[in-house]
Amino acid sequence: MTGHPKILNVELGSKSYPIFIGSELLTQKSFITDHIHGQQVMIVSNTTVAPLYLDQVARQLDEYNVEFIILPDGEQYKTLETVNTIFDALLKSKFDRTSTLIALGGGVVGDITGFAAASYQRGINFIQIPTTLLSQVDSSVGGKTGVNHDLGKNMIGAFFQPKAVIIDVNTLDTLNDREFSAGMAEVIKYGLLGNADFLSMIEENIELIMNRDKDLITDVIFRSCEDKAQIVALDEFENGKRALLNLGHTFGHGIENTFGYGVYLHGEAVSIGMHMAAMLSMLEGDLSKEDINRIQNLLSKANLPTTIKKSMDSESLIKAMSLDKKSIDGNIRLVLLKSIGDSLITGSYSKENFNTVVSNFCH
Ligand code: NAD
Ligand code: GLY
Repeated sequence: MTGHPKILNVELGSKSYPIFIGSELLTQKSFITDHIHGQQVMIVSNTTVAPLYLDQVARQLDEYNVEFIILPDGEQYKTLETVNTIFDALLKSKFDRTSTLIALGGGVVGDITGFAAASYQRGINFIQIPTTLLSQVDSSVGGKTGVNHDLGKNMIGAFFQPKAVIIDVNTLDTLNDREFSAGMAEVIKYGLLGNADFLSMIEENIELIMNRDKDLITDVIFRSCEDKAQIVALDEFENGKRALLNLGHTFGHGIENTFGYGVYLHGEAVSIGMHMAAMLSMLEGDLSKEDINRIQNLLSKANLPTTIKKSMDSESLIKAMSLDKKSIDGNIRLVLLKSIGDSLITGSYSKENFNTVVSNFCH
């Protein structure tokens, strides 16, 4: 399969933009050049992705004044300090308001670059070229950009939409299995929170998907982006429905913050978090034991963890969770399941049930 991508549009009025999903898109000029303004282009990538794909992308941009900035690889570099290195490079090369930033990499590069684009000279053009499954199904779409703070993940940031998202599924050929699985957590999330048919499709095809059948993966990415684009179009700034996309994330961010970056991948923490949210939903009387088994089974088949393997005390987890951006006056709001494929955001769950779940997972 080459050349003809599937195309989705994120409908946001004057900020609407296309998502292209297909094979060998990075070898075709127009997907990128159609979304560049002006002459100055800065490609931001990292030490892992640049040797793999930077030349391919740069080759499409011979008509432009192109510069690169190659960041160190890792969540621990998703900081204001790193953003500042991008500002330094842009200023030193006199990039003006008509310039374009291209994020070439996973969610870390995308979030950092998006935030740099949102704030450099109060906002410059920005294109996402996501290269991990997680960034292709989630982080590159919807305009959430930002960096971590010592006291909390993704605490500094901005909503800033890209001009286009270019998803070349061939980039997944070089992604390792653990990272691929981490992306599957966000895929499964869409099914659980609002799309039971999609969840069934994933269950029926999980072995083929994990074997990276390209047509299936393209379809899975398309359907994930379709679900996300619909929610973002309804609630760009997360005043309501968009918060549902955080299923598993409040528990997950708590786990990530407690252990420190690098122990669990984001998608792995979200997988455990979705299991915890499902357990709480069961204690609240909305899911059955069979539902829990079904969810745990699918996450396991995607080679994702569903329990916390290292020791962690309940208090630390709850403290980290209370920093969540959805918390209001210290009340931790959670996305819970009403059934498989239907979810709600709520702060009115039994605190006793919540404590039971946390203590069952912590040891
Ligand atoms: P990542 O960016 O750290 O990438 C994972 C690893 O894969 C890195 O080592 C990276 O260098 C490497 N890599 C990337 N593409 C590759 C390729 N094609 N071949 C080989 N290696 C490759 O992690 P991620 O899972 O992509 O993203 C996680 C980040 O995304 C977190 O910081 C999370 O907070 C953020 N996130 C943001 C949103 C959002 O809406 N903005 C949503 C979900 C997650
Ligand atoms: N990843 C959650 C969101 O974009 O809202």
